[in-house]
Amino acid sequence: MVQVNENYLKLKAGYLFPEIAKRVKLYSQSDKSSNLIKLGIGDVTEPLPKACRDAMAKALNDMGTSQGFRGYGPEQGYSWLREKISEHDFFSRGCEILPEEIFVSDGSKCDSSNILDILGKDNSIAVTDPVYPVYVDSNVMTGRTGDVLEDGTYQGLKYLAINEDNNFLPELPKSKVDILYLCFPNNPTGATITKEELKKWVDYAIKNKSLILFDAAYEAFIQDKDIPHSIYEIEGAKECAIEFRSFSKNAGFTGTRCAYTVVPKNLLGFSSKNEKIELWSLWNRRQSTKFNGVSYIVQRGAEAVYSLEGKKEVRGLIDFYMENAAIMKNKLQTAGYKVYGGDNAPYIWIKVPDQMTSWDFFDFLLQKVSVVGTPGSGFGLSGEGYFRLSAFNSRSNVIDAMERIITI
Ligand code: MLT
Repeated sequence: MVQVNENYLKLKAGYLFPEIAKRVKLYSQSDKSSNLIKLGIGDVTEPLPKACRDAMAKALNDMGTSQGFRGYGPEQGYSWLREKISEHDFFSRGCEILPEEIFVSDGSKCDSSNILDILGKDNSIAVTDPVYPVYVDSNVMTGRTGDVLEDGTYQGLKYLAINEDNNFLPELPKSKVDILYLCFPNNPTGATITKEELKKWVDYAIKNKSLILFDAAYEAFIQDKDIPHSIYEIEGAKECAIEFRSFSKNAGFTGTRCAYTVVPKNLLGFSSKNEKIELWSLWNRRQSTKFNGVSYIVQRGAEAVYSLEGKKEVRGLIDFYMENAAIMKNKLQTAGYKVYGGDNAPYIWIKVPDQMTSWDFFDFLLQKVSVVGTPGSGFGLSGEGYFRLSAFNSRSNVIDAMERIITI
């Protein structure tokens, strides 16, 4: 008799975004005339940069020739891509991240879950609340959280509330925590962290021999020059942090799939006998065994992000989405909504009006004006009473959606 992984039975509900899609599908079937505008999942809408498409087309042609054909690539990614990442994303900002510390992958969602493979089951874990649900669910699935409590939280996780009172910046845990998930610019609140604030986390992690899992998937949206793009801009971070980066949101690779994870060489974990173990070696071993790398064609596309033309086009995409965010924020604020985020991130985090719950507001917007957003409570208990709107859509849809929302 086959036994299931019973940890899956502890998951609170379906994954947030498929759950939303299910409700939206039901609604669309009942009201076929509705002209639905989706500002829910943070999925890009604008075409892939030409520089990336050209590079991928060329790579595809290469694959049709005897000399250009490639079979399995390096599991860690091709060196020419890792070198570009190292130079343009890190050395250009004064961070000494070497190409071999960069592991190219097919997504940050996968990496931020897979990283648990190399970390012990007894680590104490802290997440912000609200939080990108993948961090919590991947810990639940691997049996690291204990049981779910009545309020939907997990007994074995430490939740660090982020809300208006603390400017959406978590406070350092009072006690020692082994693994800390941080995401800045933040999904879902759109909040950012300064170097001074981030330094406190790095210092805490070094002092407590903790590991920070830093999700910087939205770094390209930072407008303010003083906000760090990488945790490695903070001294000491190479001793205590793994960083996740993605080509999904900056270069529109959500469907194309390419990301990378940085595991510094001098980052250490400990065995139960207190021996020092290099996390780099474990991750390298894990990827070599369980992953066959991202396709040659896609990596060539990602490489083109760093070309002059690619950089210009990516800048254009970011500016476009950030202008969407500015329009959204402005319209909603003028209409009297309390609005956060949207200045250095493609997400707008709004306070739900009239004492409604987040899901009530979701249903209200869907039924009344056919606009889809994401209920804040889907990101955690402290997300209740908030609602996330994504700036990823066409300009006309964004304007249309705002007009609809402010006129109800
Ligand atoms: C989101 O909407 O939060 C993101 O699209 C999720 C993701 O990137 O996986």
